[in-house]
Amino acid sequence: MVESMAESDKQEHTGAKYAPLEEEELESHPLNPMLEAAITQLTSVRDDESDSLEVLDWGCGRGRTVLALSDRGIRARGVDVDHSSVAAGAAAALRRGLDPSEVLLSMEALALLADGSFDLIYSEETLEHVRSLSDVAAEMYRVTRPGGAGLHTFPGSGRFVEPHVRMPIVHWVRSRYWQRFLVGFWLLIGVGPYAHWPELRGRSRAECREILCRYLSDKTWYRDIDDVRETFRVVGFDTSVEVSHGRWSKWIDRITPGRNGFPCGQMLLRLRKETGA
Ligand SMILES: C[S@@+](CC[C@H](N)C(=O)[O-])C[C@H]1O[C@@H](n2cnc3c(N)ncnc32)[C@H](O)[C@@H]1O
Repeated sequence: MVESMAESDKQEHTGAKYAPLEEEELESHPLNPMLEAAITQLTSVRDDESDSLEVLDWGCGRGRTVLALSDRGIRARGVDVDHSSVAAGAAAALRRGLDPSEVLLSMEALALLADGSFDLIYSEETLEHVRSLSDVAAEMYRVTRPGGAGLHTFPGSGRFVEPHVRMPIVHWVRSRYWQRFLVGFWLLIGVGPYAHWPELRGRSRAECREILCRYLSDKTWYRDIDDVRETFRVVGFDTSVEVSHGRWSKWIDRITPGRNGFPCGQMLLRLRKETGA
C-alpha cells in the first residue's frame, strides 16, 4: 500500500512548506527544462494531438509545478503524502478556476483513479524522501498509460553536502551516534541550515541537533542508484539514468570508489512503460 502521512508524522522542516502558495513565488518558480522537453517529445508522438497530455507531479508539495504547467495549458495534477502541504496550494488552484480536489490529490484519491491515467509522471526532489520506493514504483506503473513515461530528478546519495540540512557528509554516516556527533560539530562551528529552517530559531544547539537528526533519519532515504533503477525495473518499467554534475561533483565522483552506485551529482531517472503493457 502506498504510504500516506499521518498528522502526527508531519515534517519537522516546515519552513515555507505550509505557507499558502503566492503568485510571486509561482512566477519565480522555473519549470524544469527537462520536463518541458519530455512533454514536447511525448506530445509529438501522440496519435491525437488535439488533446493535451496528462501529467502527474509525484510529491507535488503545494503544487508549484502543477499550477505552472496548468498556466501553460497542460493538464497537470499532483499527489503528495502530506495533506497540509497540498492544502497550502488550494487557494492558488482556486484563483485559476481549478478544483483543488481534482488537481492536488491525496494518495487515497490517487488510488481511486483508473489504471493508465497519466502520460507522464514527474517528480522533483522527491524520491530521496520516499520511505517505500517499491510501493511508489508499483503505483506509478499502474497509473502510467502504456507508452507513457516517467521523469524523476533527485540528489545522488554521494553528494558531499546534504542538500536539506546543508551540512557535509552527515548523510553518509549510518551510525546514529556518529551522525549526531557530526551534526553537533557542524552546528558548533556555524555550518547549518538556519536561514532555511525558521523552526530552528530560538532553539538551543542540542534541540537543533535533535530536530535535524530526526529529519535525516525519518525523512531522507538515500539509495544506491542501481537499487533505485532495479526497483522500477522490477515493476515493469524500462529505466535509464543520467547524472548531471556541478563544478565539484564530477571530481568527487571520480575519486569515490564504486562511483556508479554512489554518484555525487543530480540524478535524472527516465522511465518508460511499454506500449503493449
Ligand atoms: C522536497 S519536497 C518537493 C516538493 C515539490 N516537488 C516542489 O518542488 O515544490 C518532497 C515532497 O515529497 C513528498 N513525499 C514524500 N514521500 C512521498 C511519497 N511516498 N509519495 C508522495 N509524496 C511524497 C513530501 O511530502 C514533500 O512534499
